[in-house]
Amino acid sequence: MAHPSTGSIGVPHSVAVLSATRGSGATLLTAAAGLVVDDAVGRVGQTVILMDADTDGGGLTELTRYWNATCEAPKDGLLGFAEDRVELAIRPVHRYLRHVHTGDPRRQDMALLPLGPGDKPGERLPTDGTLQDIVGAAVDGLVDLRGCLIVDCGVSRTPVTQEVCERVEHIILVGPPDPAGAAETAQLRTWLGERGLDRKVLGRVCNDPQGTGPCTAGPTAAEAPLMLLPYDRSGAADVALGRLPDRGTPLVRTLYDGLLARWPDVLDDGAMGAR
Ligand SMILES: Nc1ncnc2c1ncn2[C@@H]1O[C@H](COP(=O)(O)OP(=O)(O)OP(=O)(O)O)[C@@H](O)[C@H]1O
Ligand SMILES: [Mg+2]
Repeated sequence: MAHPSTGSIGVPHSVAVLSATRGSGATLLTAAAGLVVDDAVGRVGQTVILMDADTDGGGLTELTRYWNATCEAPKDGLLGFAEDRVELAIRPVHRYLRHVHTGDPRRQDMALLPLGPGDKPGERLPTDGTLQDIVGAAVDGLVDLRGCLIVDCGVSRTPVTQEVCERVEHIILVGPPDPAGAAETAQLRTWLGERGLDRKVLGRVCNDPQGTGPCTAGPTAAEAPLMLLPYDRSGAADVALGRLPDRGTPLVRTLYDGLLARWPDVLDDGAMGAR
């Protein structure tokens, strides 16, 4: 299908991914969407930036442990940023980003802000009430890089989560496809609504992390999910290695088609009208 080019190649985006229940696939969605966007528009200069803001879970930090990613700072990620002595408002977050080497010379490659190096870096983050300001400053710094920023907030509903949501453009919710998942997602929406953040919610992605059954659409058209992510064990295994699964695999096909249908400019490499 031909999609008209919006003429908006490499426009900045920032989105937070929040999950309704633990293990819904927020981290997988963050990483896989990053790989898909990088594959589509990395070569035309878009920078994909992934951030782990799930300070309790640290799933993205864990998932990317075996990615080919390097940083010159000995203590990188949010931990390095938190310990930098430069005043918060002007602290340079780019120093603490890991450069992700995808191995494809045509591509721009991605950047990653994990919680930090070593085991359980989340446990070494400040606990004196300053963390939310630190995370807020980090998100601001990453938004200023004007790439495609995807922040994994996980299941936490903390002041840190709120800080991230206030600073990004959009929020995507991830939850299980069953009625219980829909109810949990509704609770998450209420939490966001109470903080004036509901208007940023693009919708929910239904995911099936255990392959328990086919995803079914929401009960009403208004609640229809943005995407129904299929169970794809081999796709998830590729993502864990920092590799984009094959274009034909269910995970990538669904993500690619879903992004193209809803936000064609996210994937616009300038040649869409010609496809
Ligand atoms: N669609 C899927 N197909 C196959 N495996 C999946 C899928 N979605 C998630 N998984 C797997 O399920 C597990 C949980 O996913 P993930 O870590 O992304 O969830 P999460 O919401 O980030 O969890 P947490 O709340 O612990 O941070 C991972 O091993 C992941 O690879
Ligand atoms: Mg996670």
